[in-house]
Amino acid sequence: MGLPFKTLDDADVAGKRVMVRVDLNVPVRAGQVTDTTRIERIVPTIRELREKKARVIVISHFGRPRGKIVREMSLRNVVRALQGLLGGGQVAFADDCIGPPALMVSNRLKDGDVALFENLRFHGGEERNDPVFARALAASGQVYVDDAFAAAHRAHASVCAITQFLPSYAGRLMETEVKTLTRVLDDPERPLTAIVGGAKISTKLELLTNLLHKVDKLVMGGGMANTFLFAAGLETGKSLAEHRMADTAREIMESAKAKGCEIVLPVDAVIAAELARNAAAETVPVTKVPQRAMILDIGPETVKEIEKRIAASRSLVWNGPLGAFETPPFDAGTLAVAKAVARATKAGNLLSVAGGGDTVAALAKAGVMNDLSYVSTAGGAFLEWLEGKELPGIAALAGRS
Ligand code: 3PG
Ligand code: MG
Repeated sequence: MGLPFKTLDDADVAGKRVMVRVDLNVPVRAGQVTDTTRIERIVPTIRELREKKARVIVISHFGRPRGKIVREMSLRNVVRALQGLLGGGQVAFADDCIGPPALMVSNRLKDGDVALFENLRFHGGEERNDPVFARALAASGQVYVDDAFAAAHRAHASVCAITQFLPSYAGRLMETEVKTLTRVLDDPERPLTAIVGGAKISTKLELLTNLLHKVDKLVMGGGMANTFLFAAGLETGKSLAEHRMADTAREIMESAKAKGCEIVLPVDAVIAAELARNAAAETVPVTKVPQRAMILDIGPETVKEIEKRIAASRSLVWNGPLGAFETPPFDAGTLAVAKAVARATKAGNLLSVAGGGDTVAALAKAGVMNDLSYVSTAGGAFLEWLEGKELPGIAALAGRS
């Protein structure tokens, strides 16, 4: 399958200053990185560039400072973690990503050295995709490598406009993300199942509509599924449900039927009077939800139904938890399904791909992060990919913008 962009295989980097756009938008508490997954995933690209004697300049955004210098959002907080994961050697830091600090640090780099520039979003030009800012940024480098799939849905200067000023290539993480997601959605071994959860269908309409055309089975859970139950005329009590979306939900059901896509909705639910840790919960069929109750998780019968679909699938893509998984006992359904996906994958029967912040947190909680075929580092970009949109960062790398 052809990739839409050039990769490191095509790049001549020896002795050159190579700007690598990554996503270091990692969780930081009290100046410490608390989850290094995103950093770990960019190490192969940086290591390869160093081995090829490039002078590596790492650039990233962090948080949403909106064009101002916000001390707590300094990428200085990430230097130590990056240095540690690169396995030794100093990582130089430039206090600004453009101008004299950036040029000074980049000019001092020797072959195999690594520098990190300060947060791109301290400049308003970054989010405006400003070509003047992009040119100033590009002035420190000679080659551009985009390894930030997680930021590819943002048409920002370090992702888009910069590709007009430097020869541009995809890094290894970008390459793997795009290869894996393309394979699972556009060229999958079938049956292909999607599991979609999360709170609202209003934020996942485009995703559902796109998936209907691609998947053989669409499993729904979470608050989103309540809207479908409500649309089918069932009592959903005090549950999170978007009543004004009922017509839309019915339309989705109709077009699924027309496409031959099986929609799998919950058959039983874990309910409680309120969403609270260790609230008194009971399990009822979805046809027996009392008016005073809230649906907070899928029940064990639904888990069995989903397990059957997983067992009958060859490929699977998952986004969104199936219940209020942050609040036990309403995590049970999501955790059971995560384990079932992991089992099928480990048995060699399933190519499984998951992504999105909540989904990844749920997989980590289930202890199966490393047991799926692929877990994307992306949140918003993964969603937009599932919506079938062309991501601006990928279009730019492909020379289409
Ligand atoms: C993410 O964390 O999803 C990316 O880094 C994008 O961040 P943003 O939503 O602030 O653009
Ligand atoms: Mg985000």
